[in-house]
Amino acid sequence: MRELLNRCARIEKIIAEIYRKLAADESYRPELRAAFRQMALDEEDHADQIGFAMALPEESLAPTRIGVDDFLEKVQARFELVRTRSIPEDEVVLLALDLEEEFNRVHLGAMALFRDSRLRALFKGLARSEEEHLATLKPFLAG
Ligand SMILES: [Fe+2]
Ligand SMILES: [Fe+2]
Repeated sequence: MRELLNRCARIEKIIAEIYRKLAADESYRPELRAAFRQMALDEEDHADQIGFAMALPEESLAPTRIGVDDFLEKVQARFELVRTRSIPEDEVVLLALDLEEEFNRVHLGAMALFRDSRLRALFKGLARSEEEHLATLKPFLAG
């Protein structure tokens, strides 16, 4: 379903916006802001990769949604949150970790549904990149 890829690309773009907003928050340590800045670039790149995949034939996609709608709503709500107020550093790291963990699950869930091996490879690569984001964020956890 092209619609599924469309939603996944939108999620990546909104997460990129969230990270760009967080990178601009001067109340966070410079290292955390640098991590958010890099992750924003990665999420943009993910959106581009999904965009290229939309050129693949329609029949290579299985007709399912795997919770993408719910996640899109959640991501939009988080974007609203970071847009309207500054979140304390310890909370913001948890917020980002939560988004990364859930999107990783969405990628892996989508991967299992695709008939086309190129799409499976793409989503496997995206899941791996979100895992790197998790590893980037974990050192910033308080305590
Ligand atoms: Fe991503
Ligand atoms: Fe990510």
